[in-house]
Amino acid sequence: MHGDLYGILSWTLTAVVLLAFLLIFVTSVRNGITPMPTSRLVRRMVMREIGQLSEGSEIVEAGSGFGTLAVNLARRFPRCRITGVENSWVPLLFSRLLGWGNRLPKSRLTFRRGDLFVYPYEQANVVVCYLHPAAMRRLGPILWERAEEGTKVVSVFFAFEDWDPESVTVCGDLHRTKVYVYHVRRHPLDLLV
Ligand SMILES: C[S@@+](CC[C@H](N)C(=O)[O-])C[C@H]1O[C@@H](n2cnc3c(N)ncnc32)[C@H](O)[C@@H]1O
Repeated sequence: MHGDLYGILSWTLTAVVLLAFLLIFVTSVRNGITPMPTSRLVRRMVMREIGQLSEGSEIVEAGSGFGTLAVNLARRFPRCRITGVENSWVPLLFSRLLGWGNRLPKSRLTFRRGDLFVYPYEQANVVVCYLHPAAMRRLGPILWERAEEGTKVVSVFFAFEDWDPESVTVCGDLHRTKVYVYHVRRHPLDLLV
């Protein structure tokens, strides 16, 4: 009897783990990137590059993965609101658990299931991302169109090809990861059309 129960439980657990891996694999192929989290060193650099924020500022993490960076942002900026946008179910559910486990209320940290290319970004004061070159090529014009003038963009590892970064910092990790900082700045003539 106990043996049967144990067998059913272990098969169920194996099936759940396999399904989770399969879901992550399928979404990663579709997205062109896995939900690989940033290392602690890089997270620290991202927070340093974000700098000081006024009360009530909104930080949007485009592609929040397992939520480790967003949770750290919520701890580091307790007077700000953090929104993680993620379209992969397994990391998304994990990140929600992580936020809950860290007792971070939804008023400070939320994880939304959605496509980062569809997200509005109008409310964002800071956008953080760690994506891949093709995603950066697509995200650049979207931010330029939807984000407010002056919105800060902090990108891990990948640059926007046709934007001039305000700063590029190299982290002391094994990969010498670069952290790029930009501001959405439109040319005055662009505002007229
Ligand atoms: C390299 S991970 C970075 C995770 C997290 N930002 C961090 O730094 O720890 C990139 C994440 O972006 C997500 N992603 C890629 N394309 C996306 C899309 N179109 N919409 C939403 N999320 C996306 C992936 O699922 C993945 O979790």
